[in-house]
Amino acid sequence: MINTQMKRANSLFILLALVAINSSAQTKKTIPASQSKMDIFINSLLSKMTIDEKIGQLNLLTGGEATTGAAVSTDVESKIAKGNVGGIFSMTTPDKIRKTQEIAMKSRLKIPLIFGQDVIHGYKTTFPIPLALAASWDLSLIEKTARVAATEASADGLSWTFSPMVDIARDARWGRIAEGSGEDTYLGSQIAKVMVKGYQGDNLSKYNTIMACVKHFALYGAAEAGRDYNTTDMSLDRMYNDYLPPYKAALDAGAGSIMVSFNDINGVPATANKWLLTDVLRKQWGFKGFVVSDYTGVSELIDHGLGDLKTVSALSLKAGTDMDMVSEGFLSTLKQSLKEGKVTTAQIDNACRLILQAKYKLGLFEDPFRYCNEERAKKEILTPANIQFAREAATKTFVLLKNQNQTLPLKKSGTIALVGPLGNTKSNMPGTWSVNSDMNLVPSLLEGLKNVGGNNVKIVYSLGSNLTTDETLQINSTMFGREIPRDNRNEGELIKEAVQNASKADVVIAALGESSEMSGESSSRTDIGIPESQKRLLAALLKTGKPVVLVLFTGRPLAIKWESENVPAILNVWFGGIQTTNAIADVLFGDVNPSGKLPVTFPQNIGQVPIYYSHKNTGRPLPDGKWFTKFKSNYLDVSNEPLYPFGFGLSYTTFTYEGLKLSSNTLKPNQKITVTTTVTNTGKFAGEEIVQLYTRDLVGTSTRPVKELKGFQKIKLQPGESKMVTFNLTEEDLKFYTSDLKFVAEPGDFKVFVGPNVKDVKEADFKLVN
Ligand code: BGC
Repeated sequence: MINTQMKRANSLFILLALVAINSSAQTKKTIPASQSKMDIFINSLLSKMTIDEKIGQLNLLTGGEATTGAAVSTDVESKIAKGNVGGIFSMTTPDKIRKTQEIAMKSRLKIPLIFGQDVIHGYKTTFPIPLALAASWDLSLIEKTARVAATEASADGLSWTFSPMVDIARDARWGRIAEGSGEDTYLGSQIAKVMVKGYQGDNLSKYNTIMACVKHFALYGAAEAGRDYNTTDMSLDRMYNDYLPPYKAALDAGAGSIMVSFNDINGVPATANKWLLTDVLRKQWGFKGFVVSDYTGVSELIDHGLGDLKTVSALSLKAGTDMDMVSEGFLSTLKQSLKEGKVTTAQIDNACRLILQAKYKLGLFEDPFRYCNEERAKKEILTPANIQFAREAATKTFVLLKNQNQTLPLKKSGTIALVGPLGNTKSNMPGTWSVNSDMNLVPSLLEGLKNVGGNNVKIVYSLGSNLTTDETLQINSTMFGREIPRDNRNEGELIKEAVQNASKADVVIAALGESSEMSGESSSRTDIGIPESQKRLLAALLKTGKPVVLVLFTGRPLAIKWESENVPAILNVWFGGIQTTNAIADVLFGDVNPSGKLPVTFPQNIGQVPIYYSHKNTGRPLPDGKWFTKFKSNYLDVSNEPLYPFGFGLSYTTFTYEGLKLSSNTLKPNQKITVTTTVTNTGKFAGEEIVQLYTRDLVGTSTRPVKELKGFQKIKLQPGESKMVTFNLTEEDLKFYTSDLKFVAEPGDFKVFVGPNVKDVKEADFKLVN
């Protein structure tokens, strides 16, 4: 009896204990204190998902019109219905997106799709190309371009943009230099941050914010010989100090996703590079968002030589690629790899969780149709305010490279001969990566000049030259409808007609340079000059003795030594978006004073490339001002000087810099020194000036660049007005990655330089002490 009772009591006790253990386990499992609402939601969802559904989330398929490679997805709708798709690439407009999202809403677990596109420099209101925007050095302006882009893109159904592109690029042969902020780590990092802020705002789930995707991780801009998609091979010093900071800056600013680059990095392509995607990205930087491959980046690992589709898909996932853009390698092989033990459920779960989290943060689980608002699409895209802003933004990006005898600004009277293949094209104006621009809305330069010049100016247009004499090159440089019609008359006739018009005019505007598709993806060039036929035209125009203004269209630094020596005025206008030609006319006629400064060094010739200002000194530096000295680091046939230095740009007015004062010559940890200079507008026009501050670390445990940008300020001055410009320098500004990858500032001697560009600077010395 006692025994039975004891047994009963025992079993009751065991039962109670089990219940207690269970319930505490359950409590732990469902609502641990540390779990956010998002975690609880996603854990619960993940627990319901089959392995096929989890793998399904890891795929981005094409659904729309624009693709950036040969691959196009098939049977997309049925794949969505089965839960095999996580997101759709390049589909736009609320009606199409709504219909597609509705299919996802009928799938078993009703997991919404994310819709992404390359909204690179504006959406329908297209702004200047990113390299041009960088030339404005105007962070609030750049942030606003991203904000407008996000508003328009989200009004048209999108929730994700493949931007910002923050690849440092120092090789002008690489066509994609057009898509980033140029050569400088500091400027690039500042821009990376504000772009993310502009796209994402402070709340990703708002109806008018979209998720940013920083790209291309990593080092894509260092492709050997400037050939797109080519190998990169780089020291850790250069990576950590020069190339990686802009990606990190964008992630620190909260970017929700990152895109892996196509290139091989020191022997392992980025898409399968565990060191890069896990050790650096996750462990060192603590990134919590998701990683997407580039377009067919996973399947391209086959050509890189890493194995068949199954092998490379497993490799990519294990390395840290969460989403497969378009290859369908994850979709078609990961389940088998799981069975074979080549990947683990935990790896699939982890990638899936990150993608679900992104959707959660975008508010898509709450409302899958959050970004499908037809009314917004009608009201918020291409508004008059946005179009006006595009014009204003463009004016800020032009760089006046030369203005001999004040050739510019032009009078709004008399006759202008407008000449050149870029003078009467609409489609080439917005610039590369402007898939959403409506070309019909873009005025040609001829129209822009008429709009701004008014009735007292007569403008006569002649083509003067084809883009290039090489027809195949022209076809390949005017893809995606960016045609420039060819004139089949012979070159002599074309030039003759232009010269006749020029001879009768008061001034000649030569609209020359690259077509918009001569830069951008897969548009590398080995000759970075203005095409020869256009140069011959320019020479003939100069012979007329009329003042010639070269309006230079380009997506990269061009080697224009001859032009800079012979043409009296050069305005570099890059590709400035849908309002660029009105903006060009605003500047040419002096309604707006140009203020852009180069975010990249312009070389004297292609042989100097890669050329960038923040190079190391070497053990045999060329003394300042010298050309060739035997046994020094230089060339026999050209000086080391760039044609136009980093940070260079003129104005219709002139600025002088007086005095460079430091509050102290000693900088102590946790303190600052202030650096001041007085800038005066000594000319006749109101104008904006970009005041730049550089430092040099004179002695270090590893070699340091001869100059590094550490600050800049854009100021506006009326004629005769002076302003004292103040910069603060702290120990933080002097930190760099040592050879053992410690991020420290080393005590010792430094120089500080302030000026209007990297070359024309005043300098002072200070010491960092500990
Ligand atoms: C480019 C990316 C782009 C992607 C999707 C690729 O070819 O490298 O920059 O985001 O296509 O369009």
